[in-house]
Amino acid sequence: VYPERGHPVFAFFYDLTGSADDRLLGPRRAALVASLGGRVLEVGAGTGASFPYWQEAIRRGDVSSLTAVEPDPYMRRRAARRARSLGLTVDLLAAPAEALPFPDASFDGLAYFLVLCTVRDPVAALAEALRVLRPGGRLAFMEHVRTEGRGLAWQRRLAGVWSRLGAGCRLDRDTIATLSAAGFRDISFETDVLPPPLYRLVTGTARRP
Ligand SMILES: C[S@@+](CC[C@H](N)C(=O)[O-])C[C@H]1O[C@@H](n2cnc3c(N)ncnc32)[C@H](O)[C@@H]1O
Repeated sequence: VYPERGHPVFAFFYDLTGSADDRLLGPRRAALVASLGGRVLEVGAGTGASFPYWQEAIRRGDVSSLTAVEPDPYMRRRAARRARSLGLTVDLLAAPAEALPFPDASFDGLAYFLVLCTVRDPVAALAEALRVLRPGGRLAFMEHVRTEGRGLAWQRRLAGVWSRLGAGCRLDRDTIATLSAAGFRDISFETDVLPPPLYRLVTGTARRP
């Protein structure tokens, strides 16, 4: 399902954007992490940019266990290093969103941060999300999504080159519609403006009925 080779250059540069990430996305990550509790799974954890927030949630007693999957070995290695340096207990596994190695209803909460833009098959990924989440459980997401009009035309024009530079990232995914079609309910989100060609960031939660 996922190339074992991974993306070493992308992984190297990813953490260099750390301070921009903190300013722009940090408060969003913090709020979404605080919206989840119990047994939590982060899908596509990357280099572990959200790990400090999970550590806080564990310290508060809101999150009882953290599991993370990350299929890219270069990203995963960095995530493991970050977990060690934070002293964070996380079960970090090599698995793709489209085939999660967990029984049905294993988690109370799921987190997808900047990952549904990149998974090969978002429909399959969200079917898996629904399966591993317990009924009534919550999925938290922070994703850049497609815009409209001329912006969308640019996103489509740039899609190929962007995807090659961004390790498979797609500019024009309609993630809210995909969440709804997958069967998630109570979808609520806020929209932030991002610089072109990203344009739109949606941050919110959805529930498994
Ligand atoms: C833009 S990074 C975001 C990383 C992290 N979630 C964050 O917030 O910084 C996208 C991540 O999705 C991972 N990814 C790509 N395809 C995936 C898949 N099929 N299943 C799970 N993760 C995937 C990539 O390896 C990469 O680490």
